[in-house]
Order: sequence, then C-alpha cells, then structure tokens
Amino acid sequence: MGNRIVEVTTTAFEGQKPGTSGLRKKVTVFQQPHYLENFVQSVFDVLVDRGEGGPGKVLVVGGDGRFFNREAIQIILRLAAANGYAKAFVGRDGILSTPAASCVIRGRKADGGLILSASHNPGGPRGDFGIKYNIAAGGPAPEALTNAFHARSETIARYRTLEGAPVVDLGRDGLSALGGMTVEVIDPVADYASLMDSLFDMEGIRSLFRDGFTMSFDAMHAVTGPYAREILERRLGAAPGTVVNGVPLEDFGGGHPDPNLTYAKDLADLMMSDSAPDFGAASDGDGDRNMILGRGIFVNPSDSLAVLAANADLIPGYRGRMTGVARSMPTSRAVDRVAAKRGWECHETPTGWKFFGTLLDAGRATLCGEESFGTGSDHVREKDGLWAVLAWLNVIAARAQTVERILFDHWANYGRTYYSRHDHEGVDAGKAAALIDHLRSLDLVGMDFAGAAVVLNDDFSYVDPVDGSTASGQGIRIEREDGARLVVRLSGTGTEGATLRLYLERYEPDPAMHGQDAQEALADLIRAARDLLSLKERFGSETPTVIT
Ligand code: G1P
Ligand code: ZN
Repeated sequence: MGNRIVEVTTTAFEGQKPGTSGLRKKVTVFQQPHYLENFVQSVFDVLVDRGEGGPGKVLVVGGDGRFFNREAIQIILRLAAANGYAKAFVGRDGILSTPAASCVIRGRKADGGLILSASHNPGGPRGDFGIKYNIAAGGPAPEALTNAFHARSETIARYRTLEGAPVVDLGRDGLSALGGMTVEVIDPVADYASLMDSLFDMEGIRSLFRDGFTMSFDAMHAVTGPYAREILERRLGAAPGTVVNGVPLEDFGGGHPDPNLTYAKDLADLMMSDSAPDFGAASDGDGDRNMILGRGIFVNPSDSLAVLAANADLIPGYRGRMTGVARSMPTSRAVDRVAAKRGWECHETPTGWKFFGTLLDAGRATLCGEESFGTGSDHVREKDGLWAVLAWLNVIAARAQTVERILFDHWANYGRTYYSRHDHEGVDAGKAAALIDHLRSLDLVGMDFAGAAVVLNDDFSYVDPVDGSTASGQGIRIEREDGARLVVRLSGTGTEGATLRLYLERYEPDPAMHGQDAQEALADLIRAARDLLSLKERFGSETPTVIT
C-alpha cells in the first residue's frame, strides 16, 4: 500500500540479445544500474503488446540461487507489479529449478515466467548471471519472441517500477501484496515432486533401494540439492548421504556445476573405482541437465535418450503413449534407430530446448534430448535432470539389470553409435567465426573423409513442421556414406570469447566391437576433423579443453 508507480528514464544497453538459452552476462554487467530493469521492461512491453503479459496476468519467478538471484527477484517483482501483473508465484528463497519453474507455470496456469539462471556457468560475484522468459506452455520463449525482446531493448527509454515498495519476504510461504499485485511464495519442490510421483513407478524404485541398491547423486552445490533430498532420500528411501553437495551455494562452492566427466570428476572417479555404488548421477546449476553413470561405465547422453525411449513402456507415465522422439541436430542418431524400429516420428531440430516446444505441444514428440546432457519429455517444456535420473531408476528397477547390462543389451539390439563432443573453449571469436565461414564455403560431397566418401555437407537449417518457423546457420554437417559424421558449430551460451564444438559419431553394428573406448573408436575421424579444420594453425592448439 502507498507504493507509487513511477516511470524511470533510461537509455538502451547494447547486446541484450538472448542466446541459446536466455540472456547471459557477467554478474557485473547485470549489476549496472538499469541493466536488468531495461531487459525485463522490454520483455513486459513485448508481452503486453501481444496480450500475454501485464494487466491481469500471472507470472512465475524463480532461479537457481546463484549470486544476485534474490536482488534480481526483488527488482523483477517491483517491475511486474508496476506493469499491472495480477499475481506472481515465487519459489521460496527465490529458488526454482528450471524444470520446476516449467512445471509451476503449467500446473498453476500462469501466463509465463522469468527464470534466473546461467545454467552450468560458474556463479559468484565474478561469475555469470542470466535471465530467460518461458511462455504459458512452460517452455523457453521461441526465437520470434526473444528477437522481439532484443529489438525492444534497443529502443527502450523508460521502465515502470514501484517507488517505496517493501522488500518481499521470500523466506516464508504465503501471500502478500506488492502494489496492486499479489505475491505468493511457494514451496519450490512440492509441485515438481508430485509431478514426478505421477510419472514413475515410485514403489518399484522404493523396493530397489529397500533391497540395498546404492546410489550417489552429486547436486554440485546447485539448485537440485533440495529436490534430490526430498525425492530420492525422503520419498524413495535412498540412504541418507545419497545426495552429495546438496546445499545450494551462491557460487556453487567455487565449482563449475556442469554434470560431465570433466566438471563432475569426483563422481566420475567414484563410479570408476572399486567402491562405486550401483548408480551415479549429477545435475547442473539450474537442474535441467543430467549425467548418468553405472558402476564402471559412463552413459553417453545420446545413448541415454535412446535407452529411455526403447524402455519407455516400462515407465507408467509413458506406457503405450509414445508418439515420437526429437533430438538436436548434433545429438547422435542412436535414438533414430529406436524410432525407426517402433514406427515413431523422429525429429532433428537445431540446438536448444526451445525448438522442441512445438513438437511436444502438438503431441509429435513424447521424449526428446540433446547430447549436452539434456533429456526430457512432454511432462514439462524444459529438459529435466532429476526426471532423467528417475527414469533410469525406473528402468533399472523394472529390468532388474545393471546400467552396464542395459546399455550392452541396447547396443546388441540396435547397434552402437560411438559418439564424442570435443570443445575448444575460450578461443578467439573472430578466428572461430572465420573458421565457420571457411567451412561454409567448402563443398566436400564426393571427397574422401578419413576413408569414406562424404555424401552430405551443409550448414543445417530447419523448418519447424508444426508452425513453419525457420532457423538457419545452425551448424556445419559433414556426413559420410557409412553414416559417420562430423558436426561443427559455435556455442551460443558462452559469455567470454568463443567456444568451438566438434561432434563426432560413427555407427558400429557388430556386437563384438561394442566394448571399445569412444575416443579410440573415433580416432580416425578425430584426426581427420582436426586436419580439415586446421585447428593447430588457426588457434595454436588442437587439444580440446573438454571431451565428452
Ligand atoms: C549448450 C548446449 C545445448 C543446450 C544449451 C543450453 O548450448 O550445446 O545443447 O541446449 O547449452 O543448456 P551451446 O553453448 O552449444 O549453444
Ligand atoms: Zn542448465
């Protein structure tokens, strides 16, 4: 009460352009006066014009708990109230994992949500911050919308906020008023945990743990700690201590909360050791990514998607209702083989979860995934780390087999797609762009590439089969007659320099050849790729900074 709506004069900031997954910048950039306000007002202006935001509408707000999360939420709430929003749901302490935010938007029939996260990028005062808008269906705003936000941010001259508004108490569940808007602080875990209960054979998983099945879940001091403790330890009866690094910290304990073999090394080492539990998993900063490991074995995310699709009938929430699958272009084609056998639709989309939305909405994809440790389904409109972990637990319980057995059986049925991604982080942005331009100018069709002829060489472009929208320049593809493939693209999520990503894959039908190390199985392709791209000459080194 007594809060006054004020219009603050501002000037546009350059570069408020959302990338693969929202606007990501250094915390220090976001801390500049008016920076966050400008972007949020730009989002609201576009939404108001489209009748999707502002007066009478309902907004969900939450983030991964990284440094600046709480301050950002207070700023957003004041802008939302001043722009006429009727109600805002906020996760307690400002926390909502990305999949939980999607779940809350859908479950509570909100008009959209603002999620504060820079995913797996390091946090803390000198780390990264990020913000993205999700639409009423629960998924990331499609490109037409993010482009409109950016365009608006370039001409913005004022934003609307509340003067003299109190700081909202985010620590306690319940209702309060902020200007004309109602703020409801909610338990960040409850809605999400009930959705998981409704999808999986929780009793089957409970009896697995009762029978002594052991697991280690590394929450990497990021957002999934409270979710994993509630679901794995409390609801499913996993032993206390199953969840490690379970307390979310503003700087993620100084770590890099990306669940892969490099950044979740402790877990990977444990799983390869004599004291490995039966199952290992990790999730990232905002809870949408997952890494799956068995005792002595790493499950490649592309294989993980294929295995879950092949076993979907064992999961109550998916039994008998699989219509299709979708994967991002650079993801291996292991899942395509499952779809072909089952007669499902199979879609190849550009990198980024936002491209799955229309397919999920239209019921043309039930499961989808990306090689970048992203797996999910139509239960929300984001990839979902804990969902993938629960799906694996459900399959393990139903098949009564080890992760290793499940994987080798899968390969025996469908063949194995050897796959690896090589990242070159922090390379010179100009040189990286020049490399992509160079690759675009080549036509390798008919030429030899590491021992077989190239049959396809293009820069991937996509026409959405549901709404007809298009995306071009999505990555260079070099595909051989035997199906082996090299994909090259630049990251759209980094905040410093450029990251060059090379994706390599080769199909191996012979079960006698399924036990190789992926790097060895791909060695010829890797050599050929480095030579074709002249990595050493261009960047001074051809050794990747991260290999998955
Ligand atoms: C990366 C991944 C991509 C994922 C995105 C957001 O994007 O490659 O699959 O959707 O993070 O988690 P990139 O940096 O490659 O643009
Ligand atoms: Zn993430």
